[in-house]
Amino acid sequence: MLDIEQIRSHTPGVSESTHLLACGSALMPQQVVDAIIDHTQLEVRIGGYEAHAYRKAELEAVYDLVASHIGAKTNEIALVENATVAWCQAFYALPLKSGDRILTCEAEYAANYLAFLQRARRDNLKIDVIPGDASGAVDIRALEAMIDDNVGLIAITWIPTNGGLVNPAAEIGKIARKHNIPYLLDACQAVGQMPVDVGELHCDFLSATGRKFLRGPRGTGFLYVAEKWLDILEPVTIDLFSASWESVNEYKLRRDARRFETWENSYALRAGLGAALKYADDLGLAGIQQRAWGLAASLRQMLSMLKTCQIRDAGSENCAIVSFTIDNVDPFAAVRELHRQGIIIGTSTPKSTMLDAISRNLPVLMRAAPHYYNTEAELKQLVMALKAISGQHSI
Ligand SMILES: Cc1ncc(COP(=O)(O)O)c(C=O)c1O
Repeated sequence: MLDIEQIRSHTPGVSESTHLLACGSALMPQQVVDAIIDHTQLEVRIGGYEAHAYRKAELEAVYDLVASHIGAKTNEIALVENATVAWCQAFYALPLKSGDRILTCEAEYAANYLAFLQRARRDNLKIDVIPGDASGAVDIRALEAMIDDNVGLIAITWIPTNGGLVNPAAEIGKIARKHNIPYLLDACQAVGQMPVDVGELHCDFLSATGRKFLRGPRGTGFLYVAEKWLDILEPVTIDLFSASWESVNEYKLRRDARRFETWENSYALRAGLGAALKYADDLGLAGIQQRAWGLAASLRQMLSMLKTCQIRDAGSENCAIVSFTIDNVDPFAAVRELHRQGIIIGTSTPKSTMLDAISRNLPVLMRAAPHYYNTEAELKQLVMALKAISGQHSI
């Protein structure tokens, strides 16, 4: 059982607002803030390079923390500034050839799809979208039927930005493995709200951010690259960290996933990411998932009692992101009014998940994402405020 009072006492932001947007950028625990400030103060005192050298062992240990958090090896981890950079580093390095097919899902995130479009145009690739099953999750049987010799990549968003869907990432991984197809998994919204194990997922590449459910600082992200790919993938850009200049006309790439990094980094933020991973791991991801998903289920239940509210989450199993609309209520105006009242939720527009928006005819959605540090009382506060906004007087 999580000690919610203690967790809230570690979370200064809970006294500022009712923050229900972990899928945007969650509230950092004080331990994360302390790690960032502490490193920054060391830089102030002794200089940036010197602070890095002084804290080298702790900063190196962040790779171990990421690796153990997702069941990977330390040499399979690259630390970068966000999930998109992580994802793109793997995607653009993959040696796809003319005529290759990319299989993706309806819930795919806009940034990923834009990259598909760019490479499809440049490298003559074909993008094929795996249809959803009746619940809206990736249809495993449809995926299996789509496999042929031209599939060069399966790239899926595990949990989308726009709602509670949880795609069957591990099932997809089994199919990718069976047919020996590279599998790139966007785990940006999954990491920090549930256990993640790259072995169980059978993925070759996994990208994630620090700032969402992991409760790390903005400007942090990481990429997992399965060891077997490390000697194969040539990063699209290299520098003097990812490669060494061996002789005037020769260079040699690093042997580990850090070949996808560059030399300069924010070590203060990296220290914060390390503290966030430690904090989450100490609490335990199974307990975090149970609490966050439980709160989200409660919120769905309360919202469903608002007569004009429609829950918009796809999938049969739902995570800690709750998406909804209220008849005749402008989501942007509602979110603004909630912010004015100190209740933080967000919106998700069709352009961030266009295929899903077209397939389900979705308008702009409101999205709320409770994390384990939130309370039932805060959910109630949100629902009461929405009720007033929607002009209803009885639930
Ligand atoms: C599913 C998904 N993938 C990728 C991203 C991009 O993450 P970042 O902003 O860290 O690049 C997001 C951000 O919201 C997301 O929701």
